[in-house]
Amino acid sequence: MDSIFYLSLLAGVVFGGVLVNLTLGAASRWRRKYPPGPRRLPIIGNAHQVPKDQPWETFGTWSKSYGNMVYLDLMGQPAVVLNSRQLASELLDKRSAIYSDRPVLEMASLCGYSNLMVLSQYGEGWKQQRKIACREFLPTTVKKHFPFQEKVMRELVRSIVADPSSIRKEIAYRMGVVIMRMTYGYALTGKDDHFLQNAVEAVDNFKGISNPGQWLVDVIPAMKHLPRWVPGTSFFRTAERYSKDLMSACFDPFRWAQANLATGHSLLPNLVGDMLDEGTLSASDAKILPWSALSMFGGALDTNVGTVMSFLLFMIHNPDIQAKVQAELDKVVGKHRLPSITDRPDLPYLRSVITESLRVGCPPPLCVPHALSRDDEYNGYFLSKGTWILPNIWQMCHDPADYPDPFVFRPERYNNDDAEMEKLKSVVFGFGRRVCAGRDFGESGIFVIAATLLATCDILPGLDENANVVMPEIAFTNGSIREPKPFTTRFKPRSSEAASLLAEISSD
Ligand code: HEM
Repeated sequence: MDSIFYLSLLAGVVFGGVLVNLTLGAASRWRRKYPPGPRRLPIIGNAHQVPKDQPWETFGTWSKSYGNMVYLDLMGQPAVVLNSRQLASELLDKRSAIYSDRPVLEMASLCGYSNLMVLSQYGEGWKQQRKIACREFLPTTVKKHFPFQEKVMRELVRSIVADPSSIRKEIAYRMGVVIMRMTYGYALTGKDDHFLQNAVEAVDNFKGISNPGQWLVDVIPAMKHLPRWVPGTSFFRTAERYSKDLMSACFDPFRWAQANLATGHSLLPNLVGDMLDEGTLSASDAKILPWSALSMFGGALDTNVGTVMSFLLFMIHNPDIQAKVQAELDKVVGKHRLPSITDRPDLPYLRSVITESLRVGCPPPLCVPHALSRDDEYNGYFLSKGTWILPNIWQMCHDPADYPDPFVFRPERYNNDDAEMEKLKSVVFGFGRRVCAGRDFGESGIFVIAATLLATCDILPGLDENANVVMPEIAFTNGSIREPKPFTTRFKPRSSEAASLLAEISSD
C-alpha cells in the first residue's frame, strides 16, 4: 500500500511540494528566530532533502543535529517536525486550542473530501462531527457495541483461518458490517453490497487524489479560480465525478435509514434512529452525520489492516511469545470457550503483545499533519500561523531512550503495566483534540481478533508451491499508513476442541 485514506494527506504535504506558498515572504522570515533545521535553498527550501522513502527515519536522524523540533521550508510552506513525545505533548496536547487545525489540500477540497472529519479545518463543523461520533465511539458509549463487534470480529477470524489471503477484504467487509449497523441500522447483504462498495470506492478515490504531485491545482492553488474551458483544468471534471461518488457513499445509506425506520428493515438501536427518536437530529446534524459515519469507516480501514498484519508478522517470528500468550489465555479463559472483550483486563501479556505490535509496526508513522491556527512562540522560537506540524510518531516509538533495542519485538518491556502501555498508545493514536476518534473501538476489535486467533490457532509462516516454509521478511511498506510488505501465513488449529470452537462461530 503506497497511499492511504487519511494519512495520505501527509504524502501530499511532504512529497508533492504542495501549496507553493511564497506569500509568507522570505524577507520577513530572516528577522525571526525559527527552530533549527537543515540548510534551505532559495524557493524550494528543504523540499529536495525530504526523501520519498521512509522520510520519518531521516526526520528522526535530524534530531541529532537540530534537536527534537526541526524546522523545514517545503517550497515556501513552513513545517515543523516533532521528534519527541514530550514535545508533541507540550504543543499538541497542552496548546491544543491553536495546534488542532489541518493543512488544506486543494484537490481533496474540490472533491468534497475536506468535509470528512480527518481533513476538516478546526471549527464548528469539525466539532459537530466529533460530537456525533462521540455518541457511539467514546470509551463509555462504545461499550454498548462490544457484543456485536465481538461477534463480527470472531466471524472475521473464522473466515481468515479458512482463507488467510482474504485479510484485507475481510477487514473492510467486517468494519462495514459493524459501522453500517451502528450508524444506520443497515445489515450489509454481503461483500458486494452496494453501500459497502460505494464507501470503499470513496476511500480508494481519496487515495488517488492525494497522490504526490499528481494534481497541478495542489501545486498552484490559484488554478481553482480558472474557468473550466482553460487547458490544463481537467482536474475540475475528475473532481466533479469523485464528488458525485462521495456524496452517494455518504448520503445514500443515510436516506435509506430515514426511509426504513418505520418499515422494520432498519435494525434498532442505531445512531440515526436514536437521534430521530429523541428529536435531537437537527437539520445541520442531518448534513453532518453521514460525513461522520464515512469518516469512521475510512479511519478504521488501513489502520486496522496495518495493525493486524504487524501482529501476525511478529507472531510468526516469535513462536515463544505466541506460546506465552496461549498459556495466559488457557489459564484465564480455559479451553472450552472463546475469549471475550470482557476478559481483556485479565490478559495483560496479550495486551502487551498488541501494544508492541503497534509500537514496532507503527501504522501512522507521521500521524496526520496538524496546522497552527495562529502565531506562536515556543522556547524562544517563532512559529507562524499556518505552519504544518508533523509529529514523528515513528521516531517516538523507536527512541532507544524510551525503548531500548527499539527494533526488537519484546512485549516484556511493558512489565504488564498499563501505565507503560498507555505511554506508547498516547503517541500511536495521535494528539490533543485531534486524537484518534476510534481508538477504543479499534483497540477492542484488534483485541478480539488477536485473542480469538491465538486461543484457537498457531500462527505459522506460509508455504510455497513445494510446501517449503516461507519465512517473511520483517519489512514495511512506505505508505503514510505502514503495514508489513506482503507475506503469506497459515493458521493451524491448536486442537480438535479449538477447531470446534471456531466452527461454532455463527455467521448470521
Ligand atoms: C490501530 C488502529 C488505529 C490507529 C493506530 C489510529 C491512529 C490515528 C491517528 C494517529 C490519528 C491522527 C491523530 C492526530 O491528528 O493527532 C487518527 C485520527 C482518526 N482516526 Fe484513527 N487510528 C486507528 C483506528 C481507528 C478506527 C478503528 C477508527 C474508526 C472507527 C478511527 C477513526 C479516526 C478518525 C475519524 C480520525 C480523525 C480525527 C480528527 O481529525 O478529528 N481510527 N487515528
